[in-house]
Amino acid sequence: MTAAGPTGADGAGGDGRVVVVTGGSRGIGYGIASRFAERGARVMLTSRKAESVAAAAEAIAAARTQAAGRSRPGDVVGMVAHVADEAAARACLASAVARWGRVDVLVNNVGVNPHFGTTLDVDRARWDKIFEVNLWAPLMWTRLAVEAGLGRADGGAVVNVSSNLALAPGGPSGVYGASKAALNYLTQQLAVELAPTVRVNAVAPGVVDTDMATVLVAQGDQLAGRWPLARFGAPLDVADAVEFLAGPQSSWLTGQILVVDGGARLVGGTDVIEAAGCSPKPEYSPKM
Ligand SMILES: NC(=O)c1ccc[n+]([C@@H]2O[C@H](COP(=O)([O-])OP(=O)(O)OC[C@H]3O[C@@H](n4cnc5c(N)ncnc54)[C@H](OP(=O)(O)O)[C@@H]3O)[C@@H](O)[C@H]2O)c1
Repeated sequence: MTAAGPTGADGAGGDGRVVVVTGGSRGIGYGIASRFAERGARVMLTSRKAESVAAAAEAIAAARTQAAGRSRPGDVVGMVAHVADEAAARACLASAVARWGRVDVLVNNVGVNPHFGTTLDVDRARWDKIFEVNLWAPLMWTRLAVEAGLGRADGGAVVNVSSNLALAPGGPSGVYGASKAALNYLTQQLAVELAPTVRVNAVAPGVVDTDMATVLVAQGDQLAGRWPLARFGAPLDVADAVEFLAGPQSSWLTGQILVVDGGARLVGGTDVIEAAGCSPKPEYSPKM
């Protein structure tokens, strides 16, 4: 069995794929879940908050029903899971398999950045949080997904959501960048270890207009205007790249880090963020 797909139940890369997206209640994860749902996949999205994850699943299902002109109830499901909670992750994957009989695609989307500032100033709580959420969780979800049968049917795909900051040291997000650089390495290592049944790739977005990037997006053209494509990303810009890396059009790709940043890294990466005058986040309280 090789990872030519996932092809999904219809054998064409569309309807039938079972896709699990961590952190799908808003932002990039919401865009990714929407894109897969729009293509006819069966989608499970997760987040920490019951209300927001349920609302997101409902909105995505409604949009799909409207677009497709038909209803397939139960094809978009939200479940509560702190991304680093192993029991919750296991329950999500078991639920996907119980509902749909398989898992074809895992998108490790959740990521956090609670420390803006010089790297030597990071405290242990923030360091642990960043590495737990950004590195440990993708590894754990991948392991559990493989145990749940990822790749067993038609070949599976894991797509990790990294960051272009992993490739451009020097800005005020050094710890976050280190965690995402480690995620890139993990992507490549797992691509080797899980071949040929599961392909493992990553996207490395630039600044995307989401809650996480509010401070940066507030800089407007002063920041985005410096980049070749002169705008912030939208969640669907990233979703399109994720869909490509998860689907049959990329069947001979594994271990790749696809930068999706409007060319920002070509002209400086993190220094433009500093130049835009972003300040460190003031306080931090770890939440489970
Ligand atoms: N936005 C950017 O400019 C940008 C750039 C490069 C890379 N990225 C990466 O893209 C990914 C998504 O970022 P985003 O901008 O979409 O973030 P976001 O707007 O903050 O959304 C984060 C999503 O993850 C969920 N979430 C957060 N912490 C969680 C946790 N501990 N457990 C479970 N769910 C959690 C949130 O829902 P709840 O709050 O309900 O849990 C929400 O659905 C991250 O990996 C980030 O590092 C973002």
